[in-house]
Amino acid sequence: MGKIKTIGILTSGGDAPGMNAAIRAVTRSGIYNCFNIKGIYRGFDGLIKGEVKDFTTENVSGIITKGGTILKTARSKEFMTPEGRQKAYETCQQQGIDALVVIGGNGSLTGAWNFGVEFDFPVIGLPGTIDNDLYGTDATIGYDTTMNTIMECVDRIRDTANSHERIFFIEVMGRDAGFLAQNCAIACGAEAAIVPEEATDVDQLAAFMGRGIRKSKKSCIVIVSESPKCGALYYADRVKHEFPEFDVRVSILGHLQRGGSPSARDRILASCMGVGAIEAIKQGQRNVMVGYRMNEIVYVPFTECIRTDKRFDKRLINVLDELSI
Ligand code: F6P
Repeated sequence: MGKIKTIGILTSGGDAPGMNAAIRAVTRSGIYNCFNIKGIYRGFDGLIKGEVKDFTTENVSGIITKGGTILKTARSKEFMTPEGRQKAYETCQQQGIDALVVIGGNGSLTGAWNFGVEFDFPVIGLPGTIDNDLYGTDATIGYDTTMNTIMECVDRIRDTANSHERIFFIEVMGRDAGFLAQNCAIACGAEAAIVPEEATDVDQLAAFMGRGIRKSKKSCIVIVSESPKCGALYYADRVKHEFPEFDVRVSILGHLQRGGSPSARDRILASCMGVGAIEAIKQGQRNVMVGYRMNEIVYVPFTECIRTDKRFDKRLINVLDELSI
């Protein structure tokens, strides 16, 4: 492949606050460094269908403050097939796109990696997901904003929990990961967190009730990671049966966690990562995710960030336990 002149950018998977800041950064840094930038709409579906538009600096004006993604997003089933990826490659050829920047979570970066390998195509990933479950970066774009959103909601629910002396099970997103639940529990001064990383080791409800939390407290907040079988409703139901003396309520925060204007931290992270993506292309890197570790931009091969599980710091469980007495 010759010199890269035109870079396509797309967002894929669940939207995350800060994706727009990343689109802006890739576009502006790309133009600053003399590349042409093309915005691809609706994720990989849009790449397959040729939904592509030339981007100038004006296309990304005023978007750093906005949640969601101006490029729209999708979870593309077609891109999971070799035929779908072939069509996407044909769009790149027709549009003169010779490198891609993909902003998304694990599934999106897996698709990006397959595409890069199959067509020997330069692809750079940016970790855009509220779940923070990508290996190789301390934080993903959207995680900080979502933690702040959850914290605000839980602070409000705490008023009712206190006033009525209730146990609240509050369910948060995270897919299979407990980063949001555990850290938000600490940030909110919650009494417990129930996270998938502990699911097989202990009965987290029994452990928490066994600590006799109600001896010193009249109300409590338990943050629960979403789970098809063992979410907040499951635990609330168990308390109703196993500890009928308690007044229990459930709040499932749902998609309100993903929306809203990005925090300063997410805007800065996304901006630095966007500039990092263009730098990676200039250096001739491919099939890497831009990460941020110990205050520095790093490049993590897709092979590593997709295949390796991000370590869940179990010391955070102790922090919460000690502080919730
Ligand atoms: O990956 C981000 C995420 O918000 C997860 O936390 C959640 O499980 C999932 O996406 C929800 O996806 P959807 O918006 O497609 O229902």
